[in-house]
Amino acid sequence: TPSSQDKEIICKARYAPPWVDLSIIGIAGGSGSGKSSIARSIVNQLNLPWVVILSMDSFYKSLDPECSRKAFLNEFDFDAPSALDFDALLKVLEDLKAGQRADIPIYSFAEHRRLSGTTSIYSPHVVILEGILALHDQRILDMLDMKIFCDEDADVCLTRRIIRDVQERGRDVEGIIKQWLAYVKPNFTKYVDPQRKVADIIVPRGVKNKIAISTVVQYIQQILLDKSKKHQATLKRLGRESMNT
Ligand code: CTP
Repeated sequence: TPSSQDKEIICKARYAPPWVDLSIIGIAGGSGSGKSSIARSIVNQLNLPWVVILSMDSFYKSLDPECSRKAFLNEFDFDAPSALDFDALLKVLEDLKAGQRADIPIYSFAEHRRLSGTTSIYSPHVVILEGILALHDQRILDMLDMKIFCDEDADVCLTRRIIRDVQERGRDVEGIIKQWLAYVKPNFTKYVDPQRKVADIIVPRGVKNKIAISTVVQYIQQILLDKSKKHQATLKRLGRESMNT
């Protein structure tokens, strides 16, 4: 006889789309290594509904007035794990796994603080989590279905960062270079680069690496298919069992 838990599974499954089980893909790599472009390219190629990019940038902690003053002088370390609220990120991923809505903070790089309001995410089937330290926290690693590390030359990263931070994050070149040398570069060696060791796949040359990206996309499709098949098999088994009672 199906247990009440099994009956609940059947009930949910009947009304659920094929990929009820959330898959989370983590993309780590240095600042300016192309994580967000790779994430967007994966989303475009997957071409499925309910795929969401979650940037770890949303989880920078709020600063007290003294730290905020330092941030505006490019003297605050945003590249150490302590700058990020991993507990809040974990809670979001757990809520999404449990099928609940998650509210994502909105962060301003120009103001070094969270803005009021949130963006809500509802029942995605795939979350692409991208951030310099996406593969750092063991609790988050345990939730990932695939771990990607973006590999790019440091001069390419710095060049991209200068252009982006001037155009989009309200910074000046001198400040960007000061922060890079004081925090971004040393913390890359200390915290970002070691994540290679836990990655399933290392992608050099960013979005230009079409073979790597299509391999990732195929793997995600396979994960989704396997989950769907497992789900259908559970349904059939439980259906048979309930007929025999
Ligand atoms: N950062 C900052 N000021 C803040 C918060 C973060 O300058 N108030 C910087 C950190 O120094 C960190 C970087 O933001 O190095 C993280 O963003 P980054 O990885 O550069 O951007 P993404 O778009 O997520 O990644 P990519 O450039 O690889 O696409």
